[in-house]
Amino acid sequence: MSKPDPPQYIWFNGKLCPWHEATVHVWSELATRGANVFEGIRCYKQKDGSFALLSLDRHLARLFDSVRLLRMSSSYTSDQLSIGIAELIHTLSLNQHVYIRPTIYIEYGRYGDIYKDAEYGAYIVAFSIPRNTDVTKGIRCGVSSWRRSGDLMMSPLIKAGAAYQAFRLPIIEARRQGYDEAILLNANDYVAETTGSTIFIVRRGEIITPPLSAGILESITRSHIIKLVESKLGKTVIERDITRTELYLADELFLAGTLAELTPVLSIDDQPIGNGQVGLITETLRTTYLDICEGITSDHFGWMTPLSQLSR
Ligand SMILES: Cc1ncc(COP(=O)(O)O)c(C=O)c1O
Repeated sequence: MSKPDPPQYIWFNGKLCPWHEATVHVWSELATRGANVFEGIRCYKQKDGSFALLSLDRHLARLFDSVRLLRMSSSYTSDQLSIGIAELIHTLSLNQHVYIRPTIYIEYGRYGDIYKDAEYGAYIVAFSIPRNTDVTKGIRCGVSSWRRSGDLMMSPLIKAGAAYQAFRLPIIEARRQGYDEAILLNANDYVAETTGSTIFIVRRGEIITPPLSAGILESITRSHIIKLVESKLGKTVIERDITRTELYLADELFLAGTLAELTPVLSIDDQPIGNGQVGLITETLRTTYLDICEGITSDHFGWMTPLSQLSR
């Protein structure tokens, strides 16, 4: 497996430092028990060549929700992380869309110890991310034999690094079966989400997505799509449980997430969705969403924060 070249710099505990100097001991909580919470944020190159971050405040709010839910603490505030993100992107002088990963971790302090006495750290990684062709051509999914955890089993609302190990076997299974992505059901046999995105189905003109109680991350893109459906299509997204069988009956099906953006799903378990092509509603929402992200149409929802607005 070829290793991509790492970025030159990383923001590590309050300052920019060369990539190879950002180290944490193997006996840290971060290394031994995966004690971290993180976010995945996109910074889009705009039509005019400038850069703007998508939903920065909401991502940082969710990061600190994860900190609170796991009863962690942080040595850095949300404002300090925003400034760190700006400093890092400017220093790396990237010239295409950027993916940013702020992470808060526990260096020392086993769970069960008084969490305020633990030692915390934070880092931010940023790198260029080319346009994913899946967004235009669509992908093939399989329903996993593995389940998404529920609220009482490491809540899906907590975006913790260790929790993502639960997606390792589903994605390996999906790839072995020849699919691009796994769809996970929850303990009640209803559709939850994929290993990195929420699911929307279109059936008989209705647009439906699983509720938060189905065992999903409180996806920021999901809430954007709900707003877009209202403003662009004049419809209300129905938030309700979806059965596995309903997936096969969908006229259209798409995934939504920061990384996935809006990715059409063309088949599930080798059964074509609708006519097996990207559907009209999916296409309309995808184009509208990406046009706002890339500054092609005006951002009347207030999703974007120009990079130039973040003080350094
Ligand atoms: C498991 C999971 N579900 C859903 C999402 C989509 O969330 P968002 O739209 O906030 O990126 C992600 C991505 O972060 C994810 O990892």
